[in-house]
Amino acid sequence: MQKNLLPFLQRGSRDYQPVVCVDPDAEQACYVQALTGAHATASTIEDVDLAAIDAAIVAVPPEPSAEIAEQLLQHRIHCFVEKPAGPSTPSLRRLSEVAGKMPDVHLQVGFNFRYAAALRQLHEATVSARESPCWLQIEFCSRHPSAPQWGVDTTVESWIRQNGVHAFDLAQWFIPSPVERVDGHSLPTSDPDRFLAVVGLHHADGSHSMLRVGNQTQRFQVNAAVHASDGSVYAAPSLESVVLSRDAGMPAGTQLFGQKPLDHGWDRSGFGPELEAFVATCLDRSSAQFPGITDALTGSQLCDQALSELKPSSASAATSVA
Ligand SMILES: NC(=O)c1ccc[n+]([C@@H]2O[C@H](COP(=O)([O-])OP(=O)(O)OC[C@H]3O[C@@H](n4cnc5c(N)ncnc54)[C@H](O)[C@@H]3O)[C@@H](O)[C@H]2O)c1
Repeated sequence: MQKNLLPFLQRGSRDYQPVVCVDPDAEQACYVQALTGAHATASTIEDVDLAAIDAAIVAVPPEPSAEIAEQLLQHRIHCFVEKPAGPSTPSLRRLSEVAGKMPDVHLQVGFNFRYAAALRQLHEATVSARESPCWLQIEFCSRHPSAPQWGVDTTVESWIRQNGVHAFDLAQWFIPSPVERVDGHSLPTSDPDRFLAVVGLHHADGSHSMLRVGNQTQRFQVNAAVHASDGSVYAAPSLESVVLSRDAGMPAGTQLFGQKPLDHGWDRSGFGPELEAFVATCLDRSSAQFPGITDALTGSQLCDQALSELKPSSASAATSVA
């Protein structure tokens, strides 16, 4: 919320007016109201005149998020709901069913990395390469949570559902072909509170995604590479650049995109563009594809499968990060 929502709302726009900040923590509600210029605060959406609202941003812990989004959809309010959009696969399935009945109400899920500048460039640069089966590598590592983000217990499962789900979402964005099989492997780390998992996704079209996810690194890092069937390798070694590192098998090293990290993550992480896209779609100015509830549901199902593959002994070794 601090990194995306508040800077976005603080920037302001003629396209929307913040109406009400809802938070059971009154201090937090007032803080956000002061930053955004919203007219009012409330402690629950039951206290809000929902008829006066066109769109909502739901940035709450996973447990209430699906229920709140469902309530808002029932009032035909467009919703941006932070990933994972619900605490479990059944909760997301239910939300997906509700959303399916009202296709004219916009429900977008906050998979911000689809909007990250370098990953967008990598996606565009590999459109034709990805028409044939290819090999995708994604690394998504974060030392977080250094404080509990999913309640008091910080486990491998919570990390995968909260953070690793971004990697699963990126895999399905790059390779939309359905996943037929998931395998997972935990690698030992030197710190019992840290873990590293390698997850393989076998896609129906013959493509393969390999995800390296974990909280073993000292700092947050995301990188991705597409290995095309002709031997070309397109890589985003960080969120700041894209290179054609091999061209049809020959060493290349051609930079396709470069960005200096001066934007405080606005464009680099996709935090700003995803919310701009949400507003544009609510105003019917954009027909671009966006991450929706079906993506969140598929991502959650992939998390379920990966977790069942990861060895319980490795998982239990990392149950006490908090
Ligand atoms: N896209 C990303 O990279 C990214 C990064 C961080 C967090 N998130 C997501 O954003 C969401 C919020 O994360 P956070 O760390 O800000 O969570 P948080 O635990 O700090 O909660 C945010 C606020 O929600 C309020 N809240 C709790 N229950 C509520 C309810 N029923 N109604 C209204 N408000 C309620 C809390 O009081 C708190 O002020 C999570 O779903 C998380 O996964 C996404």
